[in-house]
Amino acid sequence: GAPVEVDISTLNPGEMKTVEWRGKPVWILKRTPEMIASLKQTDGKVADAESKRNPAEFTPEYARNEHRSIKPEILVAVGICTHLGCSPSSKFTPGPQPSLPDDWAGGFLCPCHGSTFDMAGRVFKNKPAPDNLQVPRHMYLSDTKLVIG
Ligand code: FES
Repeated sequence: GAPVEVDISTLNPGEMKTVEWRGKPVWILKRTPEMIASLKQTDGKVADAESKRNPAEFTPEYARNEHRSIKPEILVAVGICTHLGCSPSSKFTPGPQPSLPDDWAGGFLCPCHGSTFDMAGRVFKNKPAPDNLQVPRHMYLSDTKLVIG
């Protein structure tokens, strides 16, 4: 499939947009400082904090870090659960909510079998999803232009 160019100039902190790439939804989330800080809180609770599992498939080299991205504030991830392919929903509000742990720091919940992912798409321990959400190959053409693929 052809690479997809995305203008992120209008994306405000805390906002996410979805674009289609190779028939898949790709999320572009502009994280707030609180969202970035939450990754410290989830570091010890996720199954693959440094994205070492199947890196060739799930995490390009430039995203093998705690925030899984080139720029700490911008997450680019395929919005498809690595378990059986459902689409997780965003649950950005921290704190107790139905189906989420009391110490929830914000992230994503897969409605199918309850896998949860943090604000970097890292899967929490003991969940059916075996891998972190895929970070697709991407690069910045400028501060506001991103190309996926
Ligand atoms: Fe997401 Fe099963 S498809 S938890």
